[in-house]
Amino acid sequence: MKTVNDASALRQQLTDWRAQRQRIALVPTMGNLHEGHLALVRAARARAERVVVSIFVNPTQFVQGEDYDRYPRTPERDVGMLESANTDLLFMPSVAQMYPRGLADTTRVQVPELDSILCGEFRPGHFTGVATIVCKLFNLVQPDVAVFGDKDFQQLLLIRWMVADLCMPVEILGVPTVRDADGLAKSSRNGYLGAGERQLAPLLYQTLRETAASIGAGEVNYAELEARAMALLGERGFRPQYVAIRAAANLRPAQRGDRDLVLLAAAFLGSTRLIDHLELRRAAD
Ligand code: PAF
Repeated sequence: MKTVNDASALRQQLTDWRAQRQRIALVPTMGNLHEGHLALVRAARARAERVVVSIFVNPTQFVQGEDYDRYPRTPERDVGMLESANTDLLFMPSVAQMYPRGLADTTRVQVPELDSILCGEFRPGHFTGVATIVCKLFNLVQPDVAVFGDKDFQQLLLIRWMVADLCMPVEILGVPTVRDADGLAKSSRNGYLGAGERQLAPLLYQTLRETAASIGAGEVNYAELEARAMALLGERGFRPQYVAIRAAANLRPAQRGDRDLVLLAAAFLGSTRLIDHLELRRAAD
């Protein structure tokens, strides 16, 4: 695996592959890789002759007071994992490379509606930071396909909308969430959890599963189900930000006739913010 840190070395390598008509897949990450990221690399490998992984802890997607400075950076370990996963190229740019005119006055990509609801409401500006950096990475790598985890369900939908709105010639592939044996979704931020918190953490997904079971049993008062799940999370030791039952296609509040639903939640355990979701196909009335 080759590692490059700047755009011109990246372009040189990509030009060679394109001249040989090889399909290129991109897996954007912020590093501190785990099994979930490796599933993305495997999916990329199955779709393209060449796999490029980027590692960049993107400052503009961290809201003031969040964990940008302490976000885990483990480049040596990441390189070893990517080598074993048969990655062709690692792109690890600096902040100056990605934001040549600085962070404050940079051009931004904003995806209306999706950027201000759910996680966007609690992390204002976060999704504009995500869309902006993903757009930059797409411009630099010009991949045929880009692979993202569906754990960040709202992020994945937002990227799909950005690609459609800006007519970007890239296929977006979502890969199912990888979970620990007890149900906790893999996340770099799980490393912040203390031992007691780690034991409680799977209850976030369990609460979503219980809510989904109530919907499966015919309950249709979504507002009440959301309130009940919020209360349950509180009793189970979380500080929930939201539990939402939404239409999977656009994340608008679910209506009685909607069949394809997604349950989404964000909650703090101590100082660690966890998110999760569960997709659900409701039987016809
Ligand atoms: O999901 C992530 O790790 C990040 O939000 C992404 C897509 C790499 C953009 O920085």
